[in-house]
Amino acid sequence: MEDNKTQNLESSIEKLAVALDFADEKEAMKFVGLMEDRIKIYKVGLELFSVSGPQFVSKLIGLGYDVFVDLKLHDIPNTVYGAAKALGKLGARFITAHSSGGVEMLQAANEGFNEGCSDGGWGGLRYCLGVSVLTSDPYFTDQLLFSRVETIVTAGLKGFVCSGTDLSKITQKIGHLFKVVPGVRPVGSFENDQLRVTTPSNAIASGADLLVVGRPITLSSNPIAATNEILRSIFLAN
Ligand code: C5P
Repeated sequence: MEDNKTQNLESSIEKLAVALDFADEKEAMKFVGLMEDRIKIYKVGLELFSVSGPQFVSKLIGLGYDVFVDLKLHDIPNTVYGAAKALGKLGARFITAHSSGGVEMLQAANEGFNEGCSDGGWGGLRYCLGVSVLTSDPYFTDQLLFSRVETIVTAGLKGFVCSGTDLSKITQKIGHLFKVVPGVRPVGSFENDQLRVTTPSNAIASGADLLVVGRPITLSSNPIAATNEILRSIFLAN
């Protein structure tokens, strides 16, 4: 019985990435220390990467965490290829490239990432994810979503990022891909700047493989309780 409970918790932990959207490494490490082994995947985004960079990513990997480096790469294919390769070599398990950059750019990101992972000797499942439409985008339309998803599929990426509310609209096109859902808000929490939000249970029930949660945990007065509640919702929705 106890073993089942541990296995369930572990499978829920694998489906949660916490966004370390902190102003500096000190604050981020304070949070990481507090959470102990409740979190296995940390997302380092533009803010923290701009302050603490690759060294901080290596530090988290050295501590045994999986790191999702979310820079939403978007530039000419050659530049994106180089950046993705560097991130792969660094040991990022997930990276993101923006699908608005087009098929060629996404292919370059994927190729660079795969080469970097192999140069760095990093094995296991690793994903260059295509970002479909930001969950905060006020100009979102279904048409835009469909065309971005088409770009991601044509480029041959293994996974992508979209809002939980978008998942059901594109199930047929993306059944085989790894689905990452940000903009997750437990019932009763604030939406902040996210527009197309979904609860953890709805996102998992709609087929999400990984939830990205930031402020509902990091700004909570009790981050441990907030995490436990989300892990419980993930388990119950499976
Ligand atoms: O604090 P919150 O839970 O809104 O954080 C969501 C995280 O997911 C942020 O770090 C944001 O950069 C990221 N993200 C997003 N929408 C996407 C892709 C990533 O909100 N489409």
